[in-house]
Amino acid sequence: MNDKQLVALHAAKYVKDGMLVGLGTGSTANFFIEELARLQQDQGLKFTTIASSTISAQKAQSLQLPIVAIEHVSSIDLYIDGADEITPDNTLLKGRGSDLVKEKLLAKAANQFIAVADASKLVSYIGQNFTIPIEVIPFAWQMAKKNLEAVGGIGDLRPNAAKDGFWITSHGSYVLDMRFDASINASTLNALINNTPGVVEHGIFHQLTSLVLIAQDGVVSER
Ligand code: 5RP
Repeated sequence: MNDKQLVALHAAKYVKDGMLVGLGTGSTANFFIEELARLQQDQGLKFTTIASSTISAQKAQSLQLPIVAIEHVSSIDLYIDGADEITPDNTLLKGRGSDLVKEKLLAKAANQFIAVADASKLVSYIGQNFTIPIEVIPFAWQMAKKNLEAVGGIGDLRPNAAKDGFWITSHGSYVLDMRFDASINASTLNALINNTPGVVEHGIFHQLTSLVLIAQDGVVSER
């Protein structure tokens, strides 16, 4: 079993009968979804799920997990999701794909948000290994980019896979992939991007986790 699977199985121990459980997106979250299906089948665990993406919803449905749509829900019991980066203060960078809007809604709506990752995701500062994905309303991208550049951001619109247009997220936004000076801390950066007109959402998840589970060489630690 690899570390991603191990940490996902550990997270599944937090699921209790009757819970409404948010499903993250990505390979670690997929292991969690598979474990939920096993617990439902083998142990009769009863829960309802809510997905952060179409791909996770499809996976949950294919495994016969009960699922509700996000528009019918204002709070959830538990959200389990992976991350691209995790800093020492448990700030996350997420959203390499197209689904960070629902991911952040679920992270905020959850009574308990548990981030799960292998140790490759640990970093000293946000933006160390990846650019920060910033979803913008398409017509606002130039103004948003200029305002982000004014606070030191460097980057551009993400191209689509064919490189003949721009990437469009699940919710119809463009994505600016931006780097910022490493000396700007996550809290300041979070506020700067939040305060930029035209920004729909971005990948910094600051002060949202209840717990972070890290698996390294077959051992899971909680922090
Ligand atoms: C998707 C995410 C994922 O959780 C993140 O990319 C980690 O993915 P993986 O578990 O495949 O390493 O934020 O928006």
